[in-house]
Amino acid sequence: MGNDIIHKAEEYVRSFFASDFSGHDNDHTMRVYRTACRLAEEEGADMEITALAALLHDVDDRKISPETSESKLNAENFLKKNGVPSERCERILQAVKEVSFEGTDSVVPSTIEGKCVQDADRLDALGAVGIGRAFAYGGSHHRRMHDPDEAPVLNMNKEEYRSHVSTTVNHFYEKLFLLKDRMNTRSGRRTAEERDRFMHVFIERFLREWEGTDEEREDQ
Ligand code: ADP
Ligand code: NI
Repeated sequence: MGNDIIHKAEEYVRSFFASDFSGHDNDHTMRVYRTACRLAEEEGADMEITALAALLHDVDDRKISPETSESKLNAENFLKKNGVPSERCERILQAVKEVSFEGTDSVVPSTIEGKCVQDADRLDALGAVGIGRAFAYGGSHHRRMHDPDEAPVLNMNKEEYRSHVSTTVNHFYEKLFLLKDRMNTRSGRRTAEERDRFMHVFIERFLREWEGTDEEREDQ
């Protein structure tokens, strides 16, 4: 595997995310990169395509770079500038384009490399890290953690999902609890199931504490 280009991508991403604290940070990208490589090894996917797609998957994110979110121009420019052959560039950009969660309009990636990166990105929204990211996102968007009078909205399509403003607790029902049934790889699904269980324990306890009924339950 071309370690040189991987190191350059790591550096590019680190400087790109230097000022973002919304949950789309360099740490997220590096976790996705490590997980995607683990899945790629198990699935027999192309390691360099997977690694570069994982490292570049958020540099054209709609929330950070709306003007390049369709074209993926930041990723493309990086790859071209660093001499990645155009056929491999296309494979990497294809994987990046197919990563995003778009409610009911989400796609199943067309390549195994895309599947590994999408699973890795979704896994990072789950479990203890996923809980931390959700509350960090809610805080940075000045959202309420929870509102018992506001029901979650299920089955949103791309437009609805993008424009919907939800509490952080509702985000678990609107996205996070749906992910475990939408994983592409066997090992990704296994990890997702474990992280999903942990989130359910967390949310059930959160809601009991919110109502002040947590002590009652535990005494029974
Ligand atoms: P991705 O990394 O897949 O592109 P998103 O851009 O959808 O993910 O979101 C980034 C992080 O912010 C994820 O951990 C996600 O769960 C969290 N997040 C997104 N929308 C909300 C929301 N409405 N409330 C709380 N957390 C959110
Ligand atoms: Ni991401």
